Amino acid sequence: MATQSVELVDITKRFGGKLVVDSVCLEVDQGEFVVILGPSGCGKTTTLRMLAGLESPESGRISVGGKIVTDAARGVFVRPEHRDIGMVFQSYAIWPHLTVFENVAFPLRVRRMAKREIEAKVAKVLALVGLAGESQRSATALSGGQMQRVALARALVFDPALLLFDEPLSNLDLKLREHLRGELKKLQRETGLTSVYVTHDQAEAVELADRVIVMQGGKVVQVGAPEMLFRRPRSRFVAEFIATANVIDGKVEALLGEKTARIGTPCGTGLSATFEQPISIGQDVQVVVHPEDCVLSPASKNGAGYPARVIEQQYQGTSTRYLVDWNGTPFQVVALGTYSRLETGSAVHLAIDPACATIIPR
Ligand SMILES: Nc1ncnc2c1ncn2[C@@H]1O[C@H](COP(=O)(O)OP(=O)(O)OP(=O)(O)O)[C@@H](O)[C@H]1O
Ligand SMILES: [Mg+2]
Repeated sequence: MATQSVELVDITKRFGGKLVVDSVCLEVDQGEFVVILGPSGCGKTTTLRMLAGLESPESGRISVGGKIVTDAARGVFVRPEHRDIGMVFQSYAIWPHLTVFENVAFPLRVRRMAKREIEAKVAKVLALVGLAGESQRSATALSGGQMQRVALARALVFDPALLLFDEPLSNLDLKLREHLRGELKKLQRETGLTSVYVTHDQAEAVELADRVIVMQGGKVVQVGAPEMLFRRPRSRFVAEFIATANVIDGKVEALLGEKTARIGTPCGTGLSATFEQPISIGQDVQVVVHPEDCVLSPASKNGAGYPARVIEQQYQGTSTRYLVDWNGTPFQVVALGTYSRLETGSAVHLAIDPACATIIPR
């Protein structure tokens, strides 16, 4: 079966009266890699399980490839085994008493495929996940990384319409996690399989996703390409969840152009910043600036930027994290490079590119 698009419309789920998924809408294009990102308990796994047919929503509709698989209002519910979906979980969920081959062959045996065809398909998919030559090993003899490759092979082997992942790498150590993340992305590109991947790890989301869906408290709060989450967060929550950010309170003083405004802040008037969401003069807002997007230079007579003072610095090898006092407001700046040039206590200029300062309504 060819890979398919997915649509969730207004999906709501309660557990014991508690709303855990709240009117979630989500569209995934054919061949797209979408990551659902959010803190623990925000409803990511529950959303994924409803897509797989392992939970049923109290309201809403789910379709795969335009075909409705769940429709709460009409009582439609296609069972998980008929949804043609491959899943990889955090726990490897492979059978320890079976060989690698038999673990991967399982979904094909269930589908009553011919022996020859099974052998060919399993060999192909084991090669794809880097386990060629391991097919006769016992699954118990495998490392965590290898077990996860087996789980992936088993999810891929029946050419699913859709692949779902629930934190598949979080039981592995950091090095292996980073390595497998790269491989997974490559594999998804090669197979072109529509994929929905759940994680609370923003680094994973950024590297894997074509588009990230950020969830908070059961709701989707932002959808966008990874770069847009950094550059144009729609809320303080998203800005701070995705990375360390400076968030400054302010008031809109003037609209300077179609997308830029001047914001009055406790740090002094006249911070130019960019907005995406509509704002008006006098409105209370916040400005988000990532520490890596600012430049500090030693104060000089014609230096560009806002006057500030270094109050703390933390040398990190290939970068230095500075805390500066900007007119009474603490503000973080990260400077790349293996030497730190600015002394604690020294007067500096802080330059902020308006394109890298994002206004969010309060
Ligand atoms: N079967 C269940 N019965 C009762 N409550 C549940 C059940 N499954 C999940 N919950 C609750 O629903 C909420 C959302 O859980 P979910 O597992 O979807 O979160 P998550 O975003 O995947 O979190 P994590 O990052 O910790 O995996 C949580 O408060 C959880 O305790
Ligand atoms: Mg979860």
